[in-house]
Amino acid sequence: MHRIKRARSYSYMVAAACLLSAAAAPSRLAMSQPASSSASASLSYDFFKTKVEPVFLEKRAGHTRCVICHTTNNAPFHLVPLSPGATSWNEEQSRQNFELIQRVAAPGILESPLVKHPLAQEAGGDPHHGGGQQFASQDDPDWQALKAFVTGAAK
Ligand code: HEC
Repeated sequence: MHRIKRARSYSYMVAAACLLSAAAAPSRLAMSQPASSSASASLSYDFFKTKVEPVFLEKRAGHTRCVICHTTNNAPFHLVPLSPGATSWNEEQSRQNFELIQRVAAPGILESPLVKHPLAQEAGGDPHHGGGQQFASQDDPDWQALKAFVTGAAK
């Protein structure tokens, strides 16, 4: 009799623990892994290489190119330095950039820093970026390429 009672109270404890962790799970997911909640979008390497990397290399009037700061500074957005004399990244470097970009771009998440940070605040971007407001409006085709990348465009 005594033994049965003990076993029972143990199973209550297990049940309570399960309930607790079940209740905690959704919010934990939403906080730390927004990417996994949108199974439909994914980041395309081909799109990254053909449409996004050129944005990082392009000179915009009044601004420094992304590649200049983001190969050397300690911001969460980091790119592999270009090889001496090269004007773009080779295949291996692009693959590394594609891994690195996932620190600031989560599939399906329009709040991703890659989308918000270099965009002018008046256009819906972040209030401050060390590299300036590189995109004055959401009509900028380069900004649209960043957005399309995050929303899962493949070509
Ligand atoms: C003049 C240097 C400079 C240039 C050019 C520059 N940035 Fe930055 N960027 C910074 C600095 C400094 C930070 C870190 C401080 C901050 O958040 O602004 C940063 C941060 C970022 C972040 C990370 C935000 C975060 O906290 O997660 C992203 C994304 C970013 N930049 C995107 C870009 C893009 C895209 C371009 C080109 C269109 C660009 N930057 C050009 C200096 C630069």
